[in-house]
Formats: sequence, C-alpha cells, structure tokens
Amino acid sequence: MNKKIAVLPGDGIGREVAKGAVSVLQAVGERFGHQFSFTFAGIGGSAIQASGTPLPQETVEICRKSDAVLLGAVGGPKWDHLPGHLRPEKGLLGIRKELNLYANLRPVHYYSSISETSPLRKEVIEGADMLVVRELTGGLYFGKPSGRSRKNGEDSVVDTLFYKKEEMDRVIRLAFRLAEKRRGKVTSVDKANVLESSRMWRETAEEIGREFPHVKLEHMLVDNAAMQMIKAPRQFDVIVTENMFGDILSDEASVLTGSLGMLPSASLSENGPYLYEPIHGSAPDIEGKDTANPIAMILSAAMMLRISFGMEEEAKAIENAVKQVLDAGCRTVDIVPFGRRPIGTAEMIEEIKATI
Ligand code: NAI
Ligand code: MG
Repeated sequence: MNKKIAVLPGDGIGREVAKGAVSVLQAVGERFGHQFSFTFAGIGGSAIQASGTPLPQETVEICRKSDAVLLGAVGGPKWDHLPGHLRPEKGLLGIRKELNLYANLRPVHYYSSISETSPLRKEVIEGADMLVVRELTGGLYFGKPSGRSRKNGEDSVVDTLFYKKEEMDRVIRLAFRLAEKRRGKVTSVDKANVLESSRMWRETAEEIGREFPHVKLEHMLVDNAAMQMIKAPRQFDVIVTENMFGDILSDEASVLTGSLGMLPSASLSENGPYLYEPIHGSAPDIEGKDTANPIAMILSAAMMLRISFGMEEEAKAIENAVKQVLDAGCRTVDIVPFGRRPIGTAEMIEEIKATI
C-alpha cells in the first residue's frame, strides 16, 4: 500500500521522538512492502519561530491532503511570555479543530516487565488493558453562554454543558465498534443521578447498545469510575464518556501503568485524516539530552497503522517489538529501576527497529 503521512514534530522532545516514529515506520514499510511517504510541517513554538504563527495555513493543507497525521508535542518556556492566542498550544487546539477531531482514544496497557513503574501494587494492576474514549469537541469546554457577570452588586459566572444528541451518538457508537474488536465490553461513564445531559447520554448509550448485542454495556457514575479505576482497573475494557469527565479520567488512567513516556493516543474525526500523538508534552527539562522515551510516539504510529490504514499485522509487529525490547531489559531513564544502566532515545529506537 501507498500512504501519505503528515509529520508535525513540534517542539522539545517532540522532535526527537517523531524522528524515531518515522524510522520505525520505514522499517515496517520495508518488512511488509508498503510505501510510506512523509511530509514534514511546522506546528507550535518552532512554527512561531519560522513563520510567526503556531499553526501555519500550509500545515493545515498538508494535513488535509494526507492519509494520517503524526504529531510530536508542542510548547516550552521559550514561548511562555507570548499572549494566549500566539502560544504554541494554540497550534494544537487549532489543528484538532481544523480536522474536527471529536474522539480521543487513550489505550492503557500494562507491561509486566516494567511493573515497578506503576503506582499501584502489582497484583492490582497486573493484566489491566483499557481504552478510554473521550468526546473532544462538545460539552462544558465549548458551551455558550460562558462568562462572568455582575448584577445588583453580585458577581456570578456561568459555563454551559451543551450537547447535540448526534454528538453523543457518534462517539458512543465509535466506542462500541472498538469494543467489538477488543473484549466486548463498554463502560459508559456519566453523572445521570444529577445531570440532565448525563441522562440523555445514558439513554443514547442504551439505544446504541441494542445495535451491538454482542457487546456488554455497563453504566457507571463518574465518581465511582474514578475510584474503580485505581481499585480494580482490570474490570475495564472500553470506557466512553463526555469531554470533561474524559479529560480527568484519561489523565487518571494514564498514570496507572507508570510512565507518561509509554502512552500513545489517537484523535478521530468523521472523514479523516486522524491524528496520532503521544500523551506527553515537549518535556523541556530533558530536551536535547537523548533521554526521552520514544515508545509513546512509536506506539502512536502503531495505532495509526491499525486504525487509519487497517494494517493490523503491521501494528502488532511494532507492539510486539516494544514488548520484546522491554522484556530484554532495555530501559530509558523514566522506566529504569534503581541501579540499572538506562539506554538513550536513539538506542531505544534502534533496538525497536532491529526487532521489527
Ligand atoms: P510533559 O509531559 O512535557 O513533562 C512532564 C514530565 O514527564 C517531565 O518531567 C518530563 O521530563 C517527563 N516526560 C514527558 N515525556 C517523557 C518521555 N517521553 N520520556 C521521558 N520523560 C518524559 O509536561 P509539562 O512539563 O507539564 O509541559 C512541558 C511543555 O509541554 C509545556 O509547554 C506544555 O504546555 C507542553 N505540553 C504539550 C502537550 C502536547 O503537545 N500534547 C501536552 C502536555 C504538555
Ligand atoms: Mg488533560
């Protein structure tokens, strides 16, 4: 197959790990006989330096013409003095909006060989494997009205939790489709005991559930879900929830297995292209030191192969290579046990490539 991939390295370690993902994809292309062509484009602080804006129009065009987008990370102290609308993070929010990415997927997978990096006891976290699906373009973060007012000498403030039913529908349906290919269970998270929006969310989940008789649907209140995730994480397969609950739960889920440097993500739209990025930021504290863990970015590339290109075997080849390399004892600084020698970013990338 021939595939066009837009690569937006961004800033800081984003640039180091994006390079790694590209070279791992080249290795996959060679082994499986695919032609991947990469077009590099600017985003974030480095784009501000080059062209005065965190999201140049050219970058948007390149993404739209590609089959998928790989993004490193944006931001850093160099740009902290800039006003809000000119900051690197605007590039990230901008591209999500331009591509209409309504669902964010974060898989959380436990690797037994690095069990000591988890904040949970081994017998609790062992075998956990969940996928958090977060609605990304609606809810409290975008609802109008939103703002402050002062009436009769009293200050007040409002934010609005607004959803169209079809916005609930599409993200919940996506969660069911993903669950069909996993262990066949969806946990829909809401606050239906208090919020009307959550009652509609729950009804929608019930309706869609009837279209997927082989998938088990369970509802959970968000406060309980936050607790269950650390008490008994193995019970979850696919979790689906609205924007703000998803923001909080996906961050909670992401620390369960230990290092930020291990966790990939995908953001999906109705017609593509989809965007894939590690969940970590630009890590200015370790920039340029060859110590960043490239695995989150490399696993994001694996998600791209599976979801955007339907290349299941190729995605597995990357995931298996990561597992083998970890089992063999290769560790970057963020996952190395006390007293062992870590390897660098470049060496980790080479090990994974060689295994593929
Ligand atoms: P961060 O994720 O960049 O770093 C948090 C901590 O984790 C740091 O100590 C860092 O060294 C470590 N870390 C992160 N990724 C790692 C990796 N792959 N390997 C080893 N260690 C890793 O978050 P922070 O420090 O809050 O933000 C730094 C900059 O990144 C800020 O400008 C922030 O706005 C931006 N940011 C960008 C994101 C994105 O592009 N999606 C997401 C989060 C933050
Ligand atoms: Mg967050």
